[in-house]
Amino acid sequence: MSKPVVLVAEELSPAGIAVLEADFEVRHVNGADRAALLPAVADVDALIVRSATKVTAEVFEHARKLRVVARAGVGLDNVDVEAATKAGVMVVNAPTSNIVTAAEHAIALLLATARNVPQGHSALKQGEWKRSKYTGVELQGKTVGVLGLGRIGVLVAQRLAAFDMDVIAYDPYVQAARAAQLGVKLVPLEELLRESDFITVHLPKTAETLGLIGDRELQQVKPSVRIVNAARGGIVDEAALDLALKDGRVAGAGIDVFTTEPCTESPLFHHDNVVVTPHLGASTHEAQEKAGTQVARSVKLALSGEFVPDA
Ligand code: NAD
Ligand code: MLT
Repeated sequence: MSKPVVLVAEELSPAGIAVLEADFEVRHVNGADRAALLPAVADVDALIVRSATKVTAEVFEHARKLRVVARAGVGLDNVDVEAATKAGVMVVNAPTSNIVTAAEHAIALLLATARNVPQGHSALKQGEWKRSKYTGVELQGKTVGVLGLGRIGVLVAQRLAAFDMDVIAYDPYVQAARAAQLGVKLVPLEELLRESDFITVHLPKTAETLGLIGDRELQQVKPSVRIVNAARGGIVDEAALDLALKDGRVAGAGIDVFTTEPCTESPLFHHDNVVVTPHLGASTHEAQEKAGTQVARSVKLALSGEFVPDA
C-alpha cells in the first residue's frame, strides 16, 4: 500500500523531516510560488507551511485529498481556517514552539531601540566614533505597555519586570486577577498609549487588530515612546508610524514584521531611529527544531485519525 503524502512548502527542521519520513512520503515545493503550489497539493494528504505560503480557499479547491494543514509556528493568519473547515481539513499549529524565541527577539529589538545598538555598530564599522549621537535611555523605572497578554506577551512582561520596568497591558480577553498574579496592571488602550515609554505588540493579526495602532492612537503617545512590533505587520500601521516618526511624535521603533513580506523597501527603513529585522522573531535553532518536530507529530496523529493535543 502506498504511504500518505506530506507536502512541505517551506523550510522545516531536519528533525521534523526525519519524523515525517519514518511514515510518509515527503515532497517539497516552494509554497510562495503559486504556480508550483497549486498542482503540487492535488494529491497530498498533508501540507506543512510557515508564514510565506498563503493557504487560501483556492488551495483547498485544488487539494482534493488533503486532510490536514500544519503551520510550523504560531500565527494562523496565512491559513483560511474557515475555508479549511468547509473543506473538512483539520488545521494544526505549534503554539508554544517559538514563544520564548519570539519574546527574546522583541526584547532584543526593545533594547536595540533604547540604546541605538545597530546604529552605533554600523557607524563604527564605517570608521565613525559617535558617542553623543547615540546616547540612549534606561529601561529601569520606565513603563512598558504590552499589547496582548497571551503566551508571548506574558514572557515579555516577566522578563521586562526583571529590568525594574512597570508593566501595564491591554488585553480585553484576560482577567485582571490573572494579570495581577503576573504583576501586570491591565489598562484600557488609551491609558496604555498615554502612559507607556515603550510599547510592545504581541497580538494575533485579526480583523480587530489590523491597524489597531494607527494615526489616531499615535497622536496619544508620549513623544519619547519607542514601539516594538514583533507580532504581525500592519497591527502598527506603517504609514501612520512613518508620519509619527517624521513629526517627532515617536522616538523610535523596532520592527520585525511587515504588511507585505518579504519587504525589502519601506519608508520606515529611512529613519535612523528605526531598527528592523526580516521576520526573525522565530528564527533560532531551538524554536525551529521544536516547530518542526511538533508539527510533524501533529500531522502523524491527524493522519491516523487521533486526537491532536495543543503542543
Ligand atoms: P496568544 O494567542 O497566546 O496571545 C495573543 C493575545 O492577544 C491573547 O491574550 C488575546 O487575548 C490577545 N488579543 C487578541 N485580540 C486582541 C485585541 N483585539 N485586543 C487586545 N488583545 C487581543 O498568541 P502568542 O503566542 O502570544 O502570539 C501572538 C502573535 O505573535 C501570534 O499570533 C503571531 O502572529 C505573532 N508571532 C510572531 C512571531 C515572529 O516571528 N515575529 C513569532 C511568534 C508569534
Ligand atoms: C509565527 O507565527 O510562528 C512566526 O511568525 C514565525 C514564522 O512564521 O516562522
